[in-house]
Amino acid sequence: MKTPIAKITLSLVLAFAAACGQARDLKIEGLRCEYLVNPLGVDSPQPRLSWTLDSKAHGQVQSAYQILVASSPEALRKNQGDCWDTGKVESDQTIQIVYAGKPLRSGTRVFWKVRVWDKGGRVSAWSEPAFWQMGLLEAKDWQARWIGDRAELPPVIPPKTYKDAERYDAQPATMLRKRFEVSAKVRRATLHASALGAYEIHLNGRRVGDHILAPEWTDYHTRVQYQTYDVTALLRPGDNVIGALLGDGWYAGRLGMSDGLFKKLRGVYGRKPYLLAQLEIELVNGQKLTVASDGSWVATKEGPVRSSDTLDGEVYDARREMPGWDASGFDAKSWQPVEVLAEIKAKLVAQPNEPIRVVEELKPIALNEPKPGVFVFDMGQNMVGWCRLKLSGPPCTTVTLRHAEATNNDGMIYTANLRGAPEVDRYTLRGGGAEIFEPHFTYHGFRFVEVTGLAQKPKLAALTGRVFCSSSPEVGQFTCSNPMLNRLWQNIRWTQRANLMSVPTDCPQRDERLGWMGDIQAFAQMACYGMDMAAFFKKWIPDVRDAQTDDGRYADFSPHPYDRNKHFTGTPAWGDAGVIVPWRAWLNYADQRLLEEHLDSMKRWIEYIRGQNPDLIWRKGRGNAYNDWLNADTLKLAGWPAKGGEVPKDVFATMYFAHSTELVSKMAKAIGRDEDARRYGKLFDDIKTAFNQAFVAADGRLPGDTQAGYALALHFNLLPDDLRPQAIAHLREGIRKYNGHISTGFLSTRCLMLELTRNGCNDEAWQLITSRTFPSWGYMIENGATTMWERWDGYVQGRGFQDPGMNSFNHWAFGAVGEWMFQSIVGIQPDEQHPGWKHFVIRPRPGGGVTWANARYDSIHGPIASTWKIEKDKLALAVNIPANTTATVYLPAKGVAEVIESGKPAASTSGVKFLRMEEGNAVFEVGSGSYKFAAPLSHNSREKGG
Ligand code: BGC
Repeated sequence: MKTPIAKITLSLVLAFAAACGQARDLKIEGLRCEYLVNPLGVDSPQPRLSWTLDSKAHGQVQSAYQILVASSPEALRKNQGDCWDTGKVESDQTIQIVYAGKPLRSGTRVFWKVRVWDKGGRVSAWSEPAFWQMGLLEAKDWQARWIGDRAELPPVIPPKTYKDAERYDAQPATMLRKRFEVSAKVRRATLHASALGAYEIHLNGRRVGDHILAPEWTDYHTRVQYQTYDVTALLRPGDNVIGALLGDGWYAGRLGMSDGLFKKLRGVYGRKPYLLAQLEIELVNGQKLTVASDGSWVATKEGPVRSSDTLDGEVYDARREMPGWDASGFDAKSWQPVEVLAEIKAKLVAQPNEPIRVVEELKPIALNEPKPGVFVFDMGQNMVGWCRLKLSGPPCTTVTLRHAEATNNDGMIYTANLRGAPEVDRYTLRGGGAEIFEPHFTYHGFRFVEVTGLAQKPKLAALTGRVFCSSSPEVGQFTCSNPMLNRLWQNIRWTQRANLMSVPTDCPQRDERLGWMGDIQAFAQMACYGMDMAAFFKKWIPDVRDAQTDDGRYADFSPHPYDRNKHFTGTPAWGDAGVIVPWRAWLNYADQRLLEEHLDSMKRWIEYIRGQNPDLIWRKGRGNAYNDWLNADTLKLAGWPAKGGEVPKDVFATMYFAHSTELVSKMAKAIGRDEDARRYGKLFDDIKTAFNQAFVAADGRLPGDTQAGYALALHFNLLPDDLRPQAIAHLREGIRKYNGHISTGFLSTRCLMLELTRNGCNDEAWQLITSRTFPSWGYMIENGATTMWERWDGYVQGRGFQDPGMNSFNHWAFGAVGEWMFQSIVGIQPDEQHPGWKHFVIRPRPGGGVTWANARYDSIHGPIASTWKIEKDKLALAVNIPANTTATVYLPAKGVAEVIESGKPAASTSGVKFLRMEEGNAVFEVGSGSYKFAAPLSHNSREKGG
């Protein structure tokens, strides 16, 4: 196809073969229930189902579907949907389909499959079968009781200095055990388990599952998660033993700021950990048996885990190991009967998202000995998790592992920035051969591991870095011709994993690690490009609601373990995460249910701000008002013009008030709450008017004249159309004033990048992203970053480290620029009119000397790809559009834009329609399939980046 620029037309040819027979080309993949593959322990009575479609055909759509849900695999094989048979439903919906079959009882496992009809009315084959299993839906389903060690724990007396508080009053892990008989072969066995604390369960000598730090972090006063495991293969007829290891976890261990600020060293939720376990066994002879935690279990605290704390680390004494403690034949005479706890108030809920588990292993790249006997392993990558160490030596030797993100000039590890989080593991050898140490209930942020106490130099291969995080699937890939940008993408990816630890944390290393809301707010869209956040948000948004104050304030961090009505609540941009993150869940996953559950909570937040500020300028009730955190005014580098980077607080806060209000209106509309939509739409208009009256000068200047002010005002659509060009001009002037650099902080940097590009200044955006001088992404990388740093200058070669009081090398806020990389470099953008990537935009904007870029995003509707290459002044673009979706493709073109088929310009291509020319782009509407385009680069696209 080759058409003059002014009137490019592409006839839409529907290239479907005769509409007969089966749609062989159409494959159904990725069957999921509540976002998870074959989940156990689903506690929604009406779970939501989804699948993706794969087809090579152009313009393929689903015209109808049929779902069968059956009570057994056999019934499903015979196409008997005895729980639910939807029949043929005319619909193109493939996500968020609400189960509406027979009510499902606790513990029921059902099997399902789906087939679809294509655009031509041909039916596909049935999908592969999938299943889900219901959790324990009602309180009465739980026979298990909370059990723990009997001994009274003395109250914690805070030490004089918190700095030296390592393991102060730490307690050994509790070991628990119960023997039981199984009279016949087991047909199915399911274990439901939880803890006030953190647990590992063992059955007959084998570890159950691979979860780390289960049941993870929630507000334990309100909501505690349980996990469900299929343990059929671990049981056998006869004697069986269930054992558990119970640590402090987030419940009874140390938490960020609990000591210095709240004078509570540990045990913020409760001092003593407890376990809950219920094993449901179905025998082949039809009999059922339940083994539940109760007063018949026995416990000891004499085992090898002498202490294990998320911040402190672990002390393990291998001499205390009790081989066989979790299997039959073990003599547990010295163990004591357990304490049984009276009922707890919190509600038990099934964990809705992917557990924390090991997602990668790293081998060290170097081993140094900066001082005799001090061995420092370099993992080559700042990572989060812990180490597995193979060692041997005489009994009673204690080997110490200290973790750090960096080293000093002398090669010794740099730990000052960890503040009060020691990150130290200690292992005492039992002696007599090879031993392996791996901790249980802690985690560390580190690149370097210092090992001392070994008699001789270990081998490099003795240590393995076990990387773990909430295991949301990774869905984004990005590479391009600029190695610095590739490193930046990898740094963002590593930092995303590092801070996805049951809650979205600020950092994984120092004594903080809280679910800071401002950080995830800025990072939320990038987070969705990097990992499938649907289930994670489904877990965390209730955490946000649990942390909301009685008068509607959202917390600064969620969960909020302290007195939320008093401290750390109601802060602009942090509290607004309670609105902005659900919006991201809507935009990317079309999660209507999440909005239905959350809308009233969001309204309470808006009403709180309005109540405090009837004139609609947010001056009162701004909590801790961190403002645009770590903007230029907080940078203390010699010679840096530190004044003028900070947007005034009332301007900043009012912009967030407006933005959140607008989003509440949009979300209300999305779920049919029209009256709310209208009301908050009107309130947004009123805030905008008040904002303009109070702050915007006739020439578009904002108080403070900051880059951040213009970036946010443009991004939140707060300026009248005629002032937008002026605001852009002021923003560019602001960048020039800072010698071509940014002065923005955590919250506004991504907005600045997106708005430069949106408003015709893509060249400036490219200049910023490719800069290597302070402050810039390139500067961090030049100085050795392998993750995103909290500060642009966390470490500078020749100068050294920033202020250790706040110098994390693993903070994701400045990594939010990954959103710009996806939206601008490869141009993959969601469309809010069609949430869940049902329709989207591909609008690459080459620039910065980059000659090719390649990205893939596995959306909830399937894989989207955008790849481009510049060759001899021509841009070649290849895209993949998932079946049953459509996209608008912008091709930066000067002259003739072509659609290429089989390597040649095609006269016509099915699935493609030329729409118009717009700002130097040929704009096409495309259906599903893979397409290639080519065009001479437009002036804009080459020099200004489109
Ligand atoms: C955290 C930040 C957080 C902030 C609030 C810091 O200590 O590390 O990332 O958002 O506090 O200003």
